[in-house]
Amino acid sequence: MRQPLVAGNWKMNGSLASVRELLAGIKAGIGGISKCEVAVCPPYVFIPVAQAELSGTSIPWGGQNLSTEQSGAFTGEVAGSMLTDFGCTYVLVGHSERRTLYGEDDAVVAKKYAVARAAGLKPVLCVGETQEEREKGITEEVVARQLDAVIELEGVDAIGDGVIAYEPVWAIGTGLTATPEQAQDVHAFIRNRVAEHSADVADKVRILYGGSMKPGNAVELMAKPDIDGGLIGGAALKAEDFLGICRAADDSV
Ligand code: PGA
Repeated sequence: MRQPLVAGNWKMNGSLASVRELLAGIKAGIGGISKCEVAVCPPYVFIPVAQAELSGTSIPWGGQNLSTEQSGAFTGEVAGSMLTDFGCTYVLVGHSERRTLYGEDDAVVAKKYAVARAAGLKPVLCVGETQEEREKGITEEVVARQLDAVIELEGVDAIGDGVIAYEPVWAIGTGLTATPEQAQDVHAFIRNRVAEHSADVADKVRILYGGSMKPGNAVELMAKPDIDGGLIGGAALKAEDFLGICRAADDSV
């Protein structure tokens, strides 16, 4: 049985005051949630605030990105070891916004996955197709390519050390959600692809759905056998909505 994970991807949102309020709200409401792991990924500068507020709770925190490099003359970059220094458990790699807006290709994403692991972080590998790719009928091809880049560089065991997030690009921040069946199909495809290398890893790796997940659609999505939680953007910025999704995941097991 895989433990569900619901992770908040706050993206570039919030202020010191709003982050404190959001963390307080999540802590206050987490009480009844016992089976789902709940995590938050704030912008870098708020990670020390998350560390101060969440240390000693059951809530891990993580980064949204990391450098491919360990240290040195890389202005504006943040190394994996810096994230672990501030208590991060997770780090997102290959989010579609990084891929499309910052030109991160599969090779860069795979390298980030590798350096995250080397730093002791659990990478959350984000994969997903654009609207155009879905219309062309190449969703599986795209997702397979994104997944294979990591397996080829690091081996299948590396997948077992992390988490996969299937996020159809057309569903991110748009209010359009994949239907539970559409999401399940791709989740099952991903799990089968991992199983071609290792049945054990395929059985244990958590595959999250991301893309306009809300309390109202979370129950149906989480009910699907290969959906093990969510990566939540917009709805993670309101404690009540975020906790509603966490409760749906909690009730799904
Ligand atoms: P969304 O974002 O929930 O706002 O669609 C999800 C994500 O980008 O991780």
